[in-house]
Amino acid sequence: MRPSRAGVLRTPPASSPSPLLILFISLLSISTQSFAWRPWPNRNPNGTFNFGDSKKYEGSSEFVHLRYHMGPVLTANITVHPIWYGAWDPPKKRIIRAFIRSISPDGAAPPKPSVAAWWRTVALYTDQTGSNVSRAVRLGAEKNDRLCSHGKRLSRLTVQHVIRSAVSARTRPLPVNPQGGLYLLLTSDDVYVDDFCGQVCGFHYFTFPSIVGYTLPYAWVGNSARACPGVCAWPFAVPAGYGGPRAGAPPNGDLGVDAMISVIGHELAEMASNPLANAWYAGTDPCFPTEIADLCEGIYGTGGGGSYTGQLTVDGRDGAAYNLNGVGGRRFLVQWVWHPELNYCFGPNALD
Ligand SMILES: *[C@@H]1O[C@H](CO)[C@@H](O)[C@H](O)[C@H]1NC(C)=O
Ligand SMILES: *[C@@H]1O[C@H](CO)[C@@H](O)[C@H](O)[C@H]1NC(C)=O
Ligand SMILES: *[C@@H]1O[C@H](CO)[C@@H](O)[C@H](O)[C@H]1NC(C)=O
Repeated sequence: MRPSRAGVLRTPPASSPSPLLILFISLLSISTQSFAWRPWPNRNPNGTFNFGDSKKYEGSSEFVHLRYHMGPVLTANITVHPIWYGAWDPPKKRIIRAFIRSISPDGAAPPKPSVAAWWRTVALYTDQTGSNVSRAVRLGAEKNDRLCSHGKRLSRLTVQHVIRSAVSARTRPLPVNPQGGLYLLLTSDDVYVDDFCGQVCGFHYFTFPSIVGYTLPYAWVGNSARACPGVCAWPFAVPAGYGGPRAGAPPNGDLGVDAMISVIGHELAEMASNPLANAWYAGTDPCFPTEIADLCEGIYGTGGGGSYTGQLTVDGRDGAAYNLNGVGGRRFLVQWVWHPELNYCFGPNALD
């Protein structure tokens, strides 16, 4: 959730740790320092990548101690409020809206494996009272900030000011809903947010009453199409020097936005299970928690881990790589999340 160079779970076992465990620990360090996405684990000093180290990261592990820290989870109906910052063409917005609507679709259920089934793993997390994260996720009122009211370079703190502007706008402010509202700041591909590309592709936190007037869970996700597709649009794009294959074509034909979908899923899953950073996370340091999606970065299917995405569906007609179906015949590629009972990363496209 917050960037850090410090890894959690750093203690190696006393005697000859297995390469798998070393990889596992290095993956955890990477996931805490990036907290949305940089899945390839081993970059050599000369810039090449190591392949084939592990395909077992999805496997159950006694080394992951995901714990509940007594804080709230989002048990009330969830409403997602997109804030479109910068220039957002309607086709791009439609992809993202369709993904959010796919979490609890109104009409006929899309074919399996579905986005709704993916969210069911998130809904397994409960609070002190035994209430689950809500399965009801709706697309709520939206706000356009087309002219970039706070500029094209945002810091973590100015992100909160953007949200304040959206909930306090004179015309059509976003509703303030501390119970189930999630505020999703989506920046266009010409906007830079602190640490974008280097360490993060998105993050979530909660707003401070001193800035926004309320404590509201929010997330930011950036469009990396221009700035760093090889970093934040993996696996549709690969970094220079990677040499390995790409996963396939973006399923909705938009590299930057299709890649944002998985990061949005990541952040929604974590906001629902850890909205105030005091509920579900692994690691001992609450400042650098490893949350339910951090644990599964870069894993989209069975066998995923290391630099391997896991088994995906690749459409023979258009080459699109995806793992979930959504409303309106849309397809999405979304990372898995940690399953609290199975104790490993899981998604509805898992092969037995
Ligand atoms: C890069 O480094 C790795 C590990 O140190 C080594 O195995 C590999 O051969 C090197 N590649 C090149 C092109 O030097
Ligand atoms: C919450 O969502 C469920 C399912 O969509 C719906 O039946 C219910 O009326 C909603 N409750 C509130 C308080 O909006
Ligand atoms: C609520 O969470 C519990 C514990 O993970 C799980 O057994 C149960 O199936 C969940 N209920 C729903 C409706 O998801």
